[in-house]
Amino acid sequence: MKSSIAIALLVSTLPVCAQDLEVLAAETRETVLPVVPEVVAAMQDAMAREGVAGAIPVCRDLAPKLVGKKREETGWVIRRVSLKTRNPERATPDAWEIVQLADFDRRAASGERPETLEKSEIVSVDGRPVLRYMKALPVSDVCLNCHGPAEGLDPELRRKLSETYPDDRAIGYVKGQIRGALTVKRPL
Ligand code: HEC
Repeated sequence: MKSSIAIALLVSTLPVCAQDLEVLAAETRETVLPVVPEVVAAMQDAMAREGVAGAIPVCRDLAPKLVGKKREETGWVIRRVSLKTRNPERATPDAWEIVQLADFDRRAASGERPETLEKSEIVSVDGRPVLRYMKALPVSDVCLNCHGPAEGLDPELRRKLSETYPDDRAIGYVKGQIRGALTVKRPL
């Protein structure tokens, strides 16, 4: 009896209706996604000025820094994850994220536009509702410089990457594949 009351209370606190989810997802998108074009622009700029190897700090330092700023502003957990990580310490996905990343790969392979792939869901964590949001980060031309097939990579860049990332799995991608995702956990 007690447990059924607890469940009823829990369910009543979850804004489960589809409209709520769409509103929350839209807010999350608007708050978090501006980081993506900011990073890409900085990357193109750094590459034009300093060459490919000189742009490593953009993906290594600037992207996590901008994501960290959003984290501070919102209190949400925001990070980048991938099924084939370059930096496993930062970017190893959890079980929910693995499912979504695999689904993004499947959807991209079956012809969905990779830049449109996203997922939002309200889940319960320790009895509290949390919005989970994920947005695919597709491989565009600029990404191939550092995540493309090994034989096409600049030798200086390969040397620097292997020094910092001995377990680098984030090469061999082609345009349109899913490099990873931006992932958000937003307590409600
Ligand atoms: C100049 C080289 C460079 C370019 C260009 C580049 N990246 Fe990266 N990328 C890196 C490095 C270095 C890391 C490791 C970052 C770290 O240490 O957290 C990384 C990590 C990532 C991660 C985090 C997951 C992981 O594997 O650790 C994602 C996602 C990612 N890159 C996506 C992209 C996308 C999408 C593009 C194109 C828009 C891109 N990168 C272009 C160098 C690059």
